[in-house]
Amino acid sequence: MANLKIFVLAVALKGLTQAAGILPDGPLNGSVGGSVMFTTSLTEADGPFDGVTWSFGVSTIIQHTPTNNLTYPAYEGRITFFPSTASLELKDLTLDDGGQYNVNVFPDRSGRTKLDVYAPVSSVTVTPQSSDLVEFSSFSLTCSSSGPSLSFIWMNSSSEVTSSDRVQITDGGSTLTVVNVTRYDEQSYRCRVFNPVSEGISDPVNILVSYGPENTKMSASPSQEFYEEGSDISLSCSADSRPSAQFTWFVNGTKLPDSGPELTLRNIQFSQRGDYSCQAFNSRTLTNETSPSILISALQKISRVSIKASTEQIIEGSSVTLTCEASGSSPSRTWKKDGSDLNLSENVTLSEDNTVLTFKAVKKENSGEYVCLVRNPVSSSEAKFTIVVNYGPENVQIEGKDLINENDQIKLICSAESTPSATFTWRLNGSEIIGSSAEFLKEKAQSSDSGTYTCEAKNTVTEKQSTAEHELHVRTGCSSGCSAGCIARIIVGCLVVAAASAGGFTVYKKRHNREPEPPPQNTEENDVYEEMSTVYQNVGK
Ligand SMILES: *[C@@H]1O[C@H](CO)[C@@H](O)[C@H](O)[C@H]1NC(C)=O
Ligand SMILES: *[C@@H]1O[C@H](CO)[C@@H](O)[C@H](O)[C@H]1NC(C)=O
Ligand SMILES: *[C@@H]1O[C@H](CO)[C@@H](O)[C@H](O)[C@H]1NC(C)=O
Ligand SMILES: *[C@@H]1O[C@H](CO)[C@@H](O)[C@H](O)[C@H]1NC(C)=O
Repeated sequence: MANLKIFVLAVALKGLTQAAGILPDGPLNGSVGGSVMFTTSLTEADGPFDGVTWSFGVSTIIQHTPTNNLTYPAYEGRITFFPSTASLELKDLTLDDGGQYNVNVFPDRSGRTKLDVYAPVSSVTVTPQSSDLVEFSSFSLTCSSSGPSLSFIWMNSSSEVTSSDRVQITDGGSTLTVVNVTRYDEQSYRCRVFNPVSEGISDPVNILVSYGPENTKMSASPSQEFYEEGSDISLSCSADSRPSAQFTWFVNGTKLPDSGPELTLRNIQFSQRGDYSCQAFNSRTLTNETSPSILISALQKISRVSIKASTEQIIEGSSVTLTCEASGSSPSRTWKKDGSDLNLSENVTLSEDNTVLTFKAVKKENSGEYVCLVRNPVSSSEAKFTIVVNYGPENVQIEGKDLINENDQIKLICSAESTPSATFTWRLNGSEIIGSSAEFLKEKAQSSDSGTYTCEAKNTVTEKQSTAEHELHVRTGCSSGCSAGCIARIIVGCLVVAAASAGGFTVYKKRHNREPEPPPQNTEENDVYEEMSTVYQNVGK
């Protein structure tokens, strides 16, 4: 025992004078219940060592000589000494094992190091455990664990939270404060706590962020500018909102009794026309937002298109209006005549809304087929009307020979321009004669048929009439089979006849402006004819 005391003293002196060189600087870390190895920098080549002493603070752990081991009772069973290197392992660590450790190796080596003993990180908790926030507010989370904690990391979902102007990490990392929270901060957060020997992680804390409504939109299905009356229209409303928005509906700013994200308008009528919009309300943020409105307009189909004329019979020169009538919403009208656009003029005008087509004084050329096309954005329909302009009779003419022989056929044809067709009456020398058709026919002419024939053309609609006259001379004695001698005799007679009929010819020529009939081919008669022609022409001049 005396030896040992001397040895201890010697070691103590050495320890004061030598640098703590053969142990690592430390501190070494150990966890409660775990073990730690104090490894010296010595090797077997440095030994064998005459004496080794390990101590903790002021208490000795073990004294070792080649012949003796002295382990102090507090360390019995908790240490393993390695004589070849003078290293020591300490097991079943407790928090009390933390502190300064020294080793002295006789005669002149020593070392000094520090051991820190940590309890494993446990019971990592974050408060509050959840938070239901409104966007642009702020929240703060605090992390704690059992035992002295050393460092903290905050996790946002699976990535580490970094500080910024919105995100502050304070109190040595244990407090996370987020100001002006956004919806993107809605995540689960965890706190990780570390000490040198272990780490712990908290349960996730859910941060819920309410926001909106924003981006409130309304859509109509089917989406059309105009709907036909009777259609079903489905309106739907959406908004970015947490929690989900509640929807209400408005037409022209007036609240409808309906609610919910869908509004179905069934069998829509013209009267339901209006600006529809929806409003989203968030019961948590207590804000609402109204969508842009959509004009919903139901139009009645165009139907019952008709054209009404102001008079039943349209008579040239009279004033006529055609009115295009139609039922249905917002009708717009266009007119065509015989398939082409109307030629409007001072005489042909359209009312501003295209409903009434007016002819100041209707003309023949205004006759034709008129179409009124009526349309609205959902349908179209048309009506036709044919204008027949009644006019005349005009340009009454009688066609026929003005000089014929006895027993020849009398054939006079009267013509007139007239709508509807004219009816005809014939007169001879002013007295009505048989024949009410355009043609006056008599198979065998007699001299008494000579005279002034009048054709009277009459239009039963315009109630106008017009006449034409025709002189007819029936020749007696100037028969064809006449000999040369006979000719000389009768020429005078015939000339008389011719002279008489010349008046008629004048009338004829004036009215018809036609050449006299060509001379007959019979040469015997030519001379007579030529002379007669001379007379005709002289008279005609
Ligand atoms: C001293 O103790 C160590 C380990 O505890 C052992 O290896 C060694 O043999 C012992 N020496 C003597 C002399 O008892
Ligand atoms: C909060 O954030 C919003 C958008 O992220 C920003 O417009 C607003 O200015 C911020 N408010 C404050 C007080 O920082
Ligand atoms: C959390 O993560 C989201 C998405 O990665 C990010 O937008 C948000 O800013 C983060 N918030 C915080 C407080 O780190
Ligand atoms: C008609 O008048 C013409 C001349 O005035 C006369 O020659 C003719 O005989 C008359 N005819 C009839 C049928 O009266």
